[in-house]
Amino acid sequence: MIEAFRYEDEELVCEGVALRDLAASVGTPTYVYSRRAMCDRLREFQRAFTGQDALFCYALKANSNLAVIRALANEGAGADTVSMGEIKRALAAGVPPQKIVFAGIAKTDEEIAFALGAGILQLNAESVPELERVSAIASASGHTAPVALRVNPDVEAGTHEKISTGRRHDKFGVAHDEVPAILDHARTLPGIALVGLHMHIGSQITDTAPFEQAYGRGIALFRAMREAGHRLERLDLGGGFGVRYRNEQSFDATAFAALVARLTEGLDCRLLFEPGRALVAEAGVLLSSVIYRKVTRDRQFLVLDAGMNTLIRPAMYDAFHEVVPVRRTGEERLAVDVVGPICESSDVFGRGRLLPPLDAGDLVVLQSAGAYGAVMASDYNSRPGPAEVLVDEGRWAIVRPRRNAEEQFADERIPPWLAGLEKTSVG
Ligand code: LLP
Repeated sequence: MIEAFRYEDEELVCEGVALRDLAASVGTPTYVYSRRAMCDRLREFQRAFTGQDALFCYALKANSNLAVIRALANEGAGADTVSMGEIKRALAAGVPPQKIVFAGIAKTDEEIAFALGAGILQLNAESVPELERVSAIASASGHTAPVALRVNPDVEAGTHEKISTGRRHDKFGVAHDEVPAILDHARTLPGIALVGLHMHIGSQITDTAPFEQAYGRGIALFRAMREAGHRLERLDLGGGFGVRYRNEQSFDATAFAALVARLTEGLDCRLLFEPGRALVAEAGVLLSSVIYRKVTRDRQFLVLDAGMNTLIRPAMYDAFHEVVPVRRTGEERLAVDVVGPICESSDVFGRGRLLPPLDAGDLVVLQSAGAYGAVMASDYNSRPGPAEVLVDEGRWAIVRPRRNAEEQFADERIPPWLAGLEKTSVG
């Protein structure tokens, strides 16, 4: 477990704040984030790239809470966004427009116009129709759109099928062998300044080999395109850097920086990166209460108040999140199935997990839940949503309150013609 969360006198503590106290004040389920852990991780990446012109644009999709964005922005991070909503979040959290990139395969006219009006750093275009749309909107509004073209390098990222993005059949980017023709076409479009190339091959990549393969391909193209007269000045190398959920190797930012330095040798250009998970995953836990211990003939279940509605990663990607008790005891550990409250068989966090005897009212945390946790939570089954708390050197604040059922349906409407409650007779 990352330094920021550790046991003191057998009680789990985050930056000096006992998780038990947070549960008593805020209730459960609650996401708890350590500011120090996320900022330390960002600084580790920044330090590894000292001397290279590199900007880290935090991928908001991993955790777009305003407090999280602000904490990272205070340390110099920019923002990688995929919608107008995320651009608005980045701006609201204080990220300067000149540090915001806008990616995504489905930018609407409204979103493109908004991004241009806000004066963001660059749009990452994913197709020819998108380039043409950006050109039309930019020239009609008197803007010159800074655009990077997303290259699909056709490589296997060696990660989960559902989070691989850089293979030929994936929907992302343009095929690398079509880039020369597309750039020549883009050059003829008004309102566009082709400023660079972009790549992102997937998420939770723990090995540097796929990066080496993809970057090698993209950087060779970058050099060739410059020789062909394109004035490319930026290389956006995406995100995808893996974290430790179980026994993965932790991502070595220094080795990675050395790899990038080698591949970009002699290339005078600015580097952008879009790390999401790597900055926030290990900086967050999901704090949850045991509702029941249920013993059947052949299994023991620990039924939590957090479920797939709170953290969907295990159900969706077979992801592993370590479960640990908030109070550590020396008692013998038992194999239990840790499950959530949702009426679906897939609502399982882990089977046969070894935990000390726990019962109703006890607290546990699911580790490394700071990325793709709260942002992917849903109102499914209308259970109260998770609260979010940021801890910072002994201080803490609720950075998003829990939404109860009334708040979840407050904006729903019954149309007037259904308003009467009279019974319809059947047969
Ligand atoms: N840039 C682009 C263009 C992306 O599509 C993504 C993630 C990132 C950056 C950030 O990737 P990261 O550094 O976080 O790996 N919900 C999934 C992960 C989906 C990732 C989607 N794209 C999960 O929980 O594993």
